[in-house]
Amino acid sequence: MNKIETLKAEKDGLDIQDDLVRFAREGWKTIGDDDKERLKWAGVFMRRPTPGHFMMRIRMPNGIVSSDQVRLLAEITRESGRAIADVTTRQQLQLRWVTIERVPEIIARLEAAGLSSLQTGMDNIRGIIGCPATGLTPGELIDTAPIAREFQRIFLGNRAFSNLPRKFNVTITGCREHCTSGETQDISMTPALGSVGGSAETAGFNVAVGGKQGSGGPTLAVPLDAFVRPEEAAEVCAAIALIFRDHGPRESRSKARLAFLVADWGAERFRKELEARLERPLPPAGRDARGTIHSDHIGIFRQRQSGLNYVGLKTPVGRVTAAQLAELARLADRYGRGELRFTASQDVLLPHVPDPRLGDLTQEPLLKELPYNPSEVRRGLVSCTGTDFCNLALIDTKTRAMALAKDFERAVGKTRPITVRWSGCPAACGNHHTADIGLQGCKVKVDGKIVDGVHVFVGGRGGSDARAGLRILEDVPCDELPQVLERLVRFFPRPDRTAPPAEPGPGTPP
Ligand code: HEM
Ligand code: SF4
Repeated sequence: MNKIETLKAEKDGLDIQDDLVRFAREGWKTIGDDDKERLKWAGVFMRRPTPGHFMMRIRMPNGIVSSDQVRLLAEITRESGRAIADVTTRQQLQLRWVTIERVPEIIARLEAAGLSSLQTGMDNIRGIIGCPATGLTPGELIDTAPIAREFQRIFLGNRAFSNLPRKFNVTITGCREHCTSGETQDISMTPALGSVGGSAETAGFNVAVGGKQGSGGPTLAVPLDAFVRPEEAAEVCAAIALIFRDHGPRESRSKARLAFLVADWGAERFRKELEARLERPLPPAGRDARGTIHSDHIGIFRQRQSGLNYVGLKTPVGRVTAAQLAELARLADRYGRGELRFTASQDVLLPHVPDPRLGDLTQEPLLKELPYNPSEVRRGLVSCTGTDFCNLALIDTKTRAMALAKDFERAVGKTRPITVRWSGCPAACGNHHTADIGLQGCKVKVDGKIVDGVHVFVGGRGGSDARAGLRILEDVPCDELPQVLERLVRFFPRPDRTAPPAEPGPGTPP
C-alpha cells in the first residue's frame, strides 16, 4: 500500500476533527506528517512557503453563497492580518494566513453560518461545480443548485465517502453555455432531453465518467449512454462515487483516478455496475442539449425573472481582499437579494439586480477593481496559486498573469475574447489544458541563468467538442511571452472573420 492508503487505513481522515482543539493548544510544530495530510479532510492545508500558516478551503456548492456568509469570510480574512483570499476554479474560496490556534473557532463560525471546509482536499468529493447563473439564465434546461446541495448533504461528514482512492471531481450543469469544463471531471452531468419508459421527452442529464486533467495528462469523461432525471441525479452521483470507492485502483497514486477504472472496465461494464447499485436500469442517453456558445457570465445579463439582471464581475485572477469581499456582500444586499455566486473562472456574480438599479451599481467604486466590462484579454484570464502559497509551483503565476495581461492588452488591442490560463506546474490546477492559450510554469536556462518560463499549449476547449490543448512551444522564458503571444494571437480568428458572425466565441455574453 502507498503511504496515503496506509494513513487512511490507520485512521479515517474525518477523525482528525477530534484533534483540532489539541493541535490549537499545542501548536503547529507538534502536528505529525500523517496528521498534516489528514488535516486536509477538515479543509485545513499546511502551506510550506508560509511556515506556521494554513490555508482553509471553503465549500460553496454550485458557487452560491449568501451575503452574510461572504461577510463572515471577509471578517475571517481581515482577522488573519494579511487580508487576502483566493477564488478558485472549483467555485470555492481559499482563506489564507490562518494559524492553527484559530482553526477550531473559525470552523465553529463557519458551521454557524452554514458553511463547511470539510473534505475539500485529498481523497474526497471536492466542491460540486455548476453553472453560476443556474436558476437565473434563460439559457438553461435545469436549475442545478438544489441537486448540488442535495449531493453535498449526502456525502459531507459521511464516512462512507471519506476514503476514496483519490480526489473526485463532479460537475452538474443544466446550462447550454459550457462555463464549467465538465468534460474533465470524474462525473460530468450535462443537459439533455431524454425519454423515460417511453414517455414524452423530459429535461435531465446525460452522464459521462472518468474525466481528469492531471495524473498523466487530460482525459475526457466517457459517456455512459445513460439519461438521469434531475430528482435522481444526486443519488446517481453518490452511487458512482461508491463504485470508485470499492473498485478504483489504489496501488499507485498516479494511477488511482476514476479514469483508470473506466479505461479498465469500459463504459458498458461501468454502466451495468451502476444500474446494479441503483437496482434499476437507466434509459439511454437523451438528446444532447449543450449548445456551441461558451459564456463566462462576465457582464450584465438579463435573468429569466422579468426586470432582473445578474452582473458578472472579473476578479484579478481570483485574488480578492477582505475589503472587496465585505463590499461585495454590501452590494449584494443593496442592489440584489443578499446572494453572490462564484464562478469556475474565479469570478463573481451579483444576481437579482432590478433594471432601475443597474446604473447606480455600475458607478460603485468596487466595479473599478472588479469590472463587469474587462478587456477581452483579461476576462478569460485564470491562474492557479503559484509560488505565493504552493510549494510545487515553479513560477509566480498570479503576478505574472496580471503583468502579462497588461502587456498583452497593449500589444493585441481588440482581439476576439480569448482564454489564457496559467498553472504553475504540471498538476494543472489552473485548467490550462482547456484554454485557448494554456501556460504551464517551468524553469528555463538563459545565458547560464535559471529563469521563470512556460510551456505553451493552444487550442484547448471544453464543451460538447472538448479537446485538450496542443503543446506547441516549450521553455519560453516569461520575459519573452508578450512578443511570443502577440505573434501567436494573430492566428486566432477575429470576430469579423469568424463565420457565422452571429456565433460568439468563448467568453462572449449571449
Ligand atoms: C498531483 C496533482 C496535484 C497536486 C499536487 C495539486 C496541488 C494543489 C495545491 C497544493 C493546491 C492549493 C494551492 C493553494 O494553496 O492555493 C491546489 C489547488 C487546486 N487544484 Fe490542484 N493539484 C493537483 C492536481 C490538480 C488537477 C489535475 C486539477 C484539475 C484541473 C486541480 C485543480 C485544483 C483546483 C481547482 C484548486 C483550487 C482549489 C479548489 O477549489 O479545489 N489540481 N492543487
Ligand atoms: S498547478 Fe501546480 S503550482 Fe499551481 S496550485 Fe497546482 S500544484 Fe500548485
